[in-house]
Amino acid sequence: MHVAENISLKDYNTFGIDVNAKYFVSVSSINELKQVLSLKEHPKKLLLGGGSNMLLTQNQDKLVIHVNLKGITVEDETSDYVLVKANAGENWHEFVLWCLANNFGGIENLSLIPGNVGTAPIQNIGAYGVELKDTFVACDTINIETLDIKSFRKADCNFGYRNSIFKNEVSGQYIITSVTFRLTKRNHLLQMKYGAITSELEAQNIVTPTIQDISKAIIAIRERKLPNPKEIGNSGSFFKNPVISLTKFKSLQENFEDIPSYSISETKVKVPAGWLIEKAGFKGKRFGNHGVHENQALVLVNYGGATGADVLKLSELIQKTVLRLFDITIEAEVNIL
Ligand code: EPU
Repeated sequence: MHVAENISLKDYNTFGIDVNAKYFVSVSSINELKQVLSLKEHPKKLLLGGGSNMLLTQNQDKLVIHVNLKGITVEDETSDYVLVKANAGENWHEFVLWCLANNFGGIENLSLIPGNVGTAPIQNIGAYGVELKDTFVACDTINIETLDIKSFRKADCNFGYRNSIFKNEVSGQYIITSVTFRLTKRNHLLQMKYGAITSELEAQNIVTPTIQDISKAIIAIRERKLPNPKEIGNSGSFFKNPVISLTKFKSLQENFEDIPSYSISETKVKVPAGWLIEKAGFKGKRFGNHGVHENQALVLVNYGGATGADVLKLSELIQKTVLRLFDITIEAEVNIL
């Protein structure tokens, strides 16, 4: 374990933003993590998982801790279910592929989401009708101050849409070191309510899909719509989809007949921010080395060499324009650091 100085974080965030970490350390065991957390000379810490949900807007003076805990284990199983524990530093998509190779079902719809296992519960990652919380059992954590180990069970986590206790009540207090999932071994529950999945499967002439087929279909859909961070820096959806009142939605419908929505309750609907941003004229707009993705307006991109401040400024312009046109506030989904 070695605390390095003046390290570029460019390869540690999927936006590919080049800022400097004054101090940087990568930890690959719980013991190393405990040692690092005890370093008195570095009271302020910044935790880094897959770096897929952050926009770095400045050089970091805190000790940046790269959580690199690896390993996947089967904890328990019956003929129907398996409990799988994955350590926080496992890459999320590689973990999904490992589950599929073992024919463990439940997270196939979450294929190709960037990031690591340990950060997935923080924002309750979700896509194509499935959220992490659907298969989540518990996660092990370390308290950053006391170094105590604590397990959070599903009911403790207050999971919501792109939200959890780790973004709210206990934000910044715990490091997730592993996550346990309950997955199916047979009679997999296929989630295909998203029209795009069924049409993709039809196009491939697949009538009775397996979990592996669903994963492949989702990978194909995502590859068409979303930029690969290895090629174009991005952080997936930059904004959350806003929830508005049904009354407001109805009045918007008078001017915009084609406005899509998902029902949330009897009085509230969720509106796709991607649609609002496209209507506001930003889809595919490029501003030098950064811009809005051409196939999905919810995704801001770094074509190479953009600063976090550039991207932040663009996101604020988008927020202001959407507010002016629709009287809707859209909130960033990524963490601005
Ligand atoms: N839309 C537009 N223009 C756009 C983008 C979308 O009009 O540029 C419209 C689409 O036509 C569709 C609706 O918006 O009617 C929804 O689009 P999509 O299915 O692409 O989903 P989304 O709501 O934009 C969410 C998640 C994605 C996830 C997809 C699929 C959020 C913030 N984003 O996007 O998650 O992959 O659903 O389930 O909830 C991520 O979090 O990084 C992410 C990519």
